[in-house]
Amino acid sequence: MSKTVSIAVLVSGGGTNLQALINAQNKGVIKSGNIKLVVSNNADAYALKRAQKANIDTAVVLKKECVDQLDFEARIIKYLEEYNIDLIVLAGFMSILSESFTKRYSNRIINVHPSLIPSFCGKGFYGLRVHEAALKKGVKVTGATVHFVNEIPDGGEIIMQKAVNIKDDDTPQTLQKRVMRLAEWKILPAAVEQVSKEIIS
Ligand code: GAR
Repeated sequence: MSKTVSIAVLVSGGGTNLQALINAQNKGVIKSGNIKLVVSNNADAYALKRAQKANIDTAVVLKKECVDQLDFEARIIKYLEEYNIDLIVLAGFMSILSESFTKRYSNRIINVHPSLIPSFCGKGFYGLRVHEAALKKGVKVTGATVHFVNEIPDGGEIIMQKAVNIKDDDTPQTLQKRVMRLAEWKILPAAVEQVSKEIIS
């Protein structure tokens, strides 16, 4: 193992969590790992621009150009191998990975989810939908979770969580922003550093 862990970040959209990782790396909050590659399953993802601005290599793998899930994942794996990736970070990656993929990278994939798992998680709970469900249920506290990824959607070992209070006048949008700012953008970089350190040792 080299002195720093080689990281790939998988994205689909805006990439604010990717930006938090880039900022953390620039500030030295992440020092045991190095983002080598950003892979998107959406060619228009703004996350790709963020990566390019930070001089990080990017790759796009589109499901519609693949024969099936196996082919989609094989193309991603090809990039991961090309860049000798040790740790995969799912940062707003809106595609569920198969068991063969998660087993291949056991304890080497982490994900950020915008709720306190085991609430509002699993298949169908992603992005704004998570916050809509939390508001609909009327919970007073939500938050974010960083966890290892296994074959169960949002079911892997929890690494870090942070709670965020819900306000009476929250909308899914205001809640999403506050959960990102107060929880996701903090615990994702912290968890990446913690796991990178563990991998090195
Ligand atoms: C984030 O809130 C992330 O937690 C969520 O999507 C958003 C992506 O935003 N991920 C999931 O819901 C995965 N189940 P970003 O592209 O600005 O980082």
